[in-house]
Amino acid sequence: MAARQKVLVARRIFPDIVARLVEHFDVEEPLDDTPLPQAELIRRLQGKVGLFATGTELIDATLLAACPELRAVCLMTVGYNNVDLAACSAQGVRVTNAPDVLTETTADFGFGLMLAAARRITEAEHYLRAGRWGQWSIDLLAGADVHGATLGILGMGRIGQAIAKRGALGFGMQVIYHNRSRLDPELEKPLGAQWVSEDELLRRADHLVLVVPYSPQAHHLIGAPELALMKPSATLTNIARGGVVDDAALAEALAAGRLAAAGLDVFEGEPALNPALLALSNVVLTPHIASASLPTRRAMCNLAVDNLIALLGGAEPVTGLN
Ligand code: 8YV
Repeated sequence: MAARQKVLVARRIFPDIVARLVEHFDVEEPLDDTPLPQAELIRRLQGKVGLFATGTELIDATLLAACPELRAVCLMTVGYNNVDLAACSAQGVRVTNAPDVLTETTADFGFGLMLAAARRITEAEHYLRAGRWGQWSIDLLAGADVHGATLGILGMGRIGQAIAKRGALGFGMQVIYHNRSRLDPELEKPLGAQWVSEDELLRRADHLVLVVPYSPQAHHLIGAPELALMKPSATLTNIARGGVVDDAALAEALAAGRLAAAGLDVFEGEPALNPALLALSNVVLTPHIASASLPTRRAMCNLAVDNLIALLGGAEPVTGLN
């Protein structure tokens, strides 16, 4: 019998997903749930032809040069800014990601984060738990309305459109968006979505949600000058990637009352956080969990497994990137 192809799983995943892999491959699992430093990842990848990866492994030219047998990198995430796609293509390494399966779950969370920021939900809970609720008062923890407000979306891909749908159809919001390319009018129409310039988006949005993929060009896309264009009553929600927002500038704007509130699921340098954010009450902070419903995380893993099985079996992957 021919030797089974060897595959490395980079991080702890669900046991039954590993079991699926074991049906096809000789699988090495991580010893614990710690992210692997690149040197260790390279060491474990020796002799492996496939990698089940997450968003936390750096797959760059250094790693590829040190792992000449590697043929397939299958991510269970939709974002792939941790992978140098050009370097992978140059070395004949196929890469896949996990789009679609997380769209609705991530949009639910993004919308929830926006609601929580606008209506001060976590701030209110902290207030109550701290025993500060002494009496009713007219403007106690009063926030901004979401229904009927203007929803601004930066990055109108699948997740952006799913958020727009929630806003337009569920909350009667007026949807404006900015994206490199305009949506097909057939997609815009049912949402009443209007393409606007980035400046207009910043100026008009009552609630701005960021859903752009990270790239060097998107670094600090929202910094002090952009925040200065926003309404002081507006909220900003980031479910894209840390680094798209200049977190220090955002903390300054929130502290100065130049922006009402923010909802952040992603951070520059995460899991470390800019300490200025922690000191603010008008920001809702979550640890990069927008896609984290159990069914969706399982679907993301299963898609990565489907892709590994296809690629290493000589077939085309379901969701290939190169
Ligand atoms: C992941 C994500 O959970 O899919 C993505 O791009 O951001 C999340 O769904 C995260 O990247 C884990 O590393």
